[in-house]
Amino acid sequence: MAMSRRFFLAAAGVVGATASTGLLSACSSDSNSSVGANGAPGELEVFSWWTDPGEKAALDSLVSVFNQNNPNIKFINRAIVGGGGDAAKALLASRLKAKNPPDTFQAQAGEMVGDYITAGQIEDLTFLYKQEGWDTQFSQKVLKLIQRDGKFYSVPVDTHHINVLWSNPKVCAAHGVSAKPTSMDEFLGNLRKLKKAGNVIPLAVSLDPGQDWQVKHIMETVLLSTLKADAWSALWKKGADWSTPQVTKALDTFAEIMTYAPGTAPAAGWDQVCTLVGGGKAAYQIMGDWVEANFTVAQNLYPGRDYAWCAVPGTAGTFLFASDCFTLPVGAKDRAATIAWLTSCGSKAGQDAFTAVKGAIPPRQTIGSDERTLFDPYLQWSLDEWKKDVLAGSLTHGVVASGAWNTAVDGAVVNWLKDRSVTKLQQNLVSAAGQYAALSHS
Ligand code: GAL
Repeated sequence: MAMSRRFFLAAAGVVGATASTGLLSACSSDSNSSVGANGAPGELEVFSWWTDPGEKAALDSLVSVFNQNNPNIKFINRAIVGGGGDAAKALLASRLKAKNPPDTFQAQAGEMVGDYITAGQIEDLTFLYKQEGWDTQFSQKVLKLIQRDGKFYSVPVDTHHINVLWSNPKVCAAHGVSAKPTSMDEFLGNLRKLKKAGNVIPLAVSLDPGQDWQVKHIMETVLLSTLKADAWSALWKKGADWSTPQVTKALDTFAEIMTYAPGTAPAAGWDQVCTLVGGGKAAYQIMGDWVEANFTVAQNLYPGRDYAWCAVPGTAGTFLFASDCFTLPVGAKDRAATIAWLTSCGSKAGQDAFTAVKGAIPPRQTIGSDERTLFDPYLQWSLDEWKKDVLAGSLTHGVVASGAWNTAVDGAVVNWLKDRSVTKLQQNLVSAAGQYAALSHS
């Protein structure tokens, strides 16, 4: 495990706490350090879907910065089990409908935040942006996704990398295949070889309909691989055309890749799936970089030695991204506590403490060279890619499509899991676009 990650974990009390004292003061040395320190006692209910040990450790690391700035506010962790957030989003929707929101909830920059804005469920935070100077500090690409009519809604806490192929280098070497295939043809050849060997899972993913977001995640990266960034992004705009031969080609490739994914234990979460890669039972996994937190925190693996990564073949040069944010819900019980939380979320200290553990990079415009040393070799790679790549938004993780459109795509994927018909899959995707593209803000 990288030293920096261990330091943050120690500060959060996740591993032996000997190194913690110096770190917490280092964490709090930015301009937000005094916010809330003299604030009135309060309670803060924070709603998310971060329950995997790696995700939880990252949240704890952020909470330790928050606690130091706000010793009087009691943090209540209302995280709901279920990677990708399907269960959390459903429960949240019922709470919002009943006008019983948590003090803050996790959302994703882009159309997902847009849904909450349209529904009038979250407050304008422009005052906080002006006060903290975030409108010039945060990445403009991320900021664009949380704005409506020039106002800022929600505070991003990370940027996740979505088009990443993870692998077990020892398993790959033992089977004579590259851990970092550079083209789709090479990747397909490797999968074929691994399947033939018969003693390893070539591509690990759950095929359970309740986990269909994992399959959708693979599908979106393969669409990106075939179509490239501009044509991918066009699929989410008004007038999107899903009926083209290029989309058919991408879906055929996706279907072929999936013949090398035998599935895992029923309903295995992404974290259980990545245990198969870390533990040497599977060669590859396509997943966002929160798996890094699982590899390092839950499995105690070391980047580069125990697991390898590269862009999903055919997508090098494009950074498919998503960004987790926190919100100020309309009707939040303890508004002052929420604002104190959001202030920590947007601070450099909070974002560093969170992202270095989470397997994500901070959603800021510039990362200084000192700050860079907080991040492990994988994250330094991701920081470099973010700087030089073309950026494109993720479907599965809320950027390019509304909740309703995403649900329609889920339906198409679940049907495809049953009948494996690419023709029907494309028809369903065409009809989902017909229904929702006209409403898109992408
Ligand atoms: C994503 C989210 C990540 C991570 C992942 C798995 O949607 O952006 O932060 O939590 O789900 O649960």
